[in-house]
Amino acid sequence: MTIYHPAVPMRMRQVSVELGERSYPILIGDGLLQPGCLSAHVAGERVLIVSNDRVAPLYLEPARAAFAGKGVDHLLLPDGERYKTLATLGVIYDALMAGRYDRDTTLVALGGGVIGDLTGFAAATYQRGIDFIQIPTTLLAQVDSSIGGKTGVNHPGGKNMIGAFHQPRCVLADTRTLTTLPERELRAGLAEVIKYGLIADREFIGWLEANMAALRARSAAALEVAIERCCRLKARIVAADERERGLRALLNLGHTFGHAIEAGQGYRGWLHGEAVAAGMAMAARLSARLGRVTAVERDRVLALIDAAGLPLGPPAELPGRELRTHMASDKKVARGRVRLILLRGLGHAEVVEDYPEDCLAEVLCDAAVAALPA
Ligand code: NAD
Ligand code: GLY
Repeated sequence: MTIYHPAVPMRMRQVSVELGERSYPILIGDGLLQPGCLSAHVAGERVLIVSNDRVAPLYLEPARAAFAGKGVDHLLLPDGERYKTLATLGVIYDALMAGRYDRDTTLVALGGGVIGDLTGFAAATYQRGIDFIQIPTTLLAQVDSSIGGKTGVNHPGGKNMIGAFHQPRCVLADTRTLTTLPERELRAGLAEVIKYGLIADREFIGWLEANMAALRARSAAALEVAIERCCRLKARIVAADERERGLRALLNLGHTFGHAIEAGQGYRGWLHGEAVAAGMAMAARLSARLGRVTAVERDRVLALIDAAGLPLGPPAELPGRELRTHMASDKKVARGRVRLILLRGLGHAEVVEDYPEDCLAEVLCDAAVAALPA
């Protein structure tokens, strides 16, 4: 749906996450971050924008102006996944306490998924919960992490192990911010875009095949279409299963394999999206071995991941046996079985527990000789 925002004389797409009184809009468009455009989404008078030292020089001023009429301050954190910790969370609490921010404060996350997860968790917990708004500036954050209310930090023992569900009041995805995103980060975000097609939207797979070059060239029109479609799919899934009791688990396609790659590299190798892409390729191969997709369908998945410039298997230095060990410590292990998200045709996925272990082992070894990212 394309509508016109009263305060912003430009085209804007809007998707609603329907969660009763906690429902909220996702606003998507090129150049949306305009003076005053977010003021109406702030209930109180004070706003604290949390960003990092990489994103702030690019977008802090327009983000501040977006809250015209409110008292706006900001806090800058160091950049990087390694700072998604309880210690950094403490820095946000310290700023909130030092500034005497009350329960009517709105926290704003300006950045990628790291800033979004940290700021969201601070908002979920400060004074038992305050409002927050997401201004995601990576493709991954615009299609995935800013939506759905998963917030949290890493623990030395595992990624995202400490967190809370806390929905934002509004998400504003200005696709123009993606013009400054490093090429590798853009490709990593494309992995999550492809994921939505594979799990829930066969027609979107065809659209992606036709438009992958435009997305990689950062065509604003193509990005808007893709981001809206992904947000619509995620909004539907979150509305049906906010707390991940069932359906929402499908959003983890490729992630169990991907997390094993990330863990195997000590979280210092590939980007999350690159590991997820390799994981989706492995899930497609296993799905084909189990007769859940045809060889032609499997090859379409592999070709699409390849067209996005993403890897089709894990790094050669990670043997299948080692990957299997890391998979065993995944959050989705139940009764000793690793539950996998596998395809059933294209555009449909299921949680599967009863796959033959030798088929999984074969796929892990196959994949270990597959392509590396450029
Ligand atoms: P990120 O936040 O680390 O951002 C990637 C890099 O791009 C960073 O260096 C960042 O500073 C920089 N950057 C951000 N926007 C930019 C811009 N417009 N121009 C130039 N540089 C920019 O990584 P990410 O991929 O956005 O997010 C990954 C995180 O998201 C992980 O911690 C992951 O666990 C989390 N995540 C959360 C959810 C969820 O549902 N909450 C879902 C998926 C991923
Ligand atoms: N990115 C997975 C989820 O939001 O559930």
